Amino acid sequence: MELDEKPLPDPPPDFVLKAVMAARQKGRAAFDAAFPAEVVLFDWIGGLPRLIIAGRMAALRVPDLLAQGPLSSEEIATRLGQDVDAMHRSLRVCAAHGLFTLRGDGRFENNRLSRALETGTPSRTRDFFEYYSSASNVAAWRDFPETLRTGENAFDRVHGVSVWDWFDAHPHERETFAQAMMGMSVMVAPFVAKMYPFHELGTLCDVGGGRGTLLSELLVRNPGLKGILCDAPGVLDSARSLVAARGLVDRMDLVPGSFFDEVPSGADAYLLKTVLHDWDDRRCEKILGVVRKAMKPGAKVLVVEQLVERLADDPMGTGSDVQMMIVCGEGRERGRDEFAALLDRSGFALGRVFEGPVTAVIEGVAR
Ligand SMILES: C[S@@+](CC[C@H](N)C(=O)[O-])C[C@H]1O[C@@H](n2cnc3c(N)ncnc32)[C@H](O)[C@@H]1O
Repeated sequence: MELDEKPLPDPPPDFVLKAVMAARQKGRAAFDAAFPAEVVLFDWIGGLPRLIIAGRMAALRVPDLLAQGPLSSEEIATRLGQDVDAMHRSLRVCAAHGLFTLRGDGRFENNRLSRALETGTPSRTRDFFEYYSSASNVAAWRDFPETLRTGENAFDRVHGVSVWDWFDAHPHERETFAQAMMGMSVMVAPFVAKMYPFHELGTLCDVGGGRGTLLSELLVRNPGLKGILCDAPGVLDSARSLVAARGLVDRMDLVPGSFFDEVPSGADAYLLKTVLHDWDDRRCEKILGVVRKAMKPGAKVLVVEQLVERLADDPMGTGSDVQMMIVCGEGRERGRDEFAALLDRSGFALGRVFEGPVTAVIEGVAR
């Protein structure tokens, strides 16, 4: 499904999603409890190989190849220029964990999980696998001990540049990351659209808005709303086709620039979705300060982030938190009070907080 002038489908009700997520976690814990600890722990050992293998299969587009029908490892390897034996053994690991099916006749075929890794699914899960298993991300993670010792991000130390500068120099990786972010936004946008009364606003500026997936959804759903999308010039270049596909050329301005310097002034509200989690408190205050400077008193900043509290136990939020710690500028996921304090120190009063099952909208009102 590609985005067009129609809104994305509405999400399931919050209580259904919350119940499903809680049941999955409880179910897993109950299942594990039935086995010796050593058996459960061996699953942990397999985490890295599984990610590397599945990420490479995703990058090589094996699920796309199998979309035509089952193939032997020899056929797959030959078509993709890989070693036949290595391909078979690697795919067998995937199949053993439910990704692809190894049939009795020795051929591999797609199943529910591997179909979700085909190119161009709305969730862009293929791009997520490719990004997480990329050499640059894995190299940063190899330096985890130093991050654990110092609290400093590994990516800059290992690669000598920030992840954003790295992307500028590696357009394929930037594209993969942008696609992954887009997939995340496609999943989250309908929730955000329902959580906050965007129809009350005239102009909404999305700061660090990437391709504009969320902003475009909010504009499609609220015909009275105008949008301004701000991000690095290279990112905005690739946003143009989406803006056109969604019929928003006349309602969305694309303004390149850095949120550490200046953002367009005078919008009714400024959206920051999964931007603050990339940065430490000092740089978040800098970003919020730049945004505050562009605003009139009473205007709103809308921080869209998952809330991860000190005692959080969900695998997604806690996992994302350490990914930010390793890769971004000492980034972190934050809880409600941490966002409130950040807003307070940056010239905002805490407004309404809308918390859904996958994300939250934290409103700050310019003092
Ligand atoms: C984690 S992504 C979030 C993108 C988008 N808000 C979303 O949720 O899909 C962070 C975004 O911040 C942008 N960014 C990083 N540094 C920036 C800067 N100094 N000024 C403007 N945008 C920046 C990146 O290009 C990227 O699009």
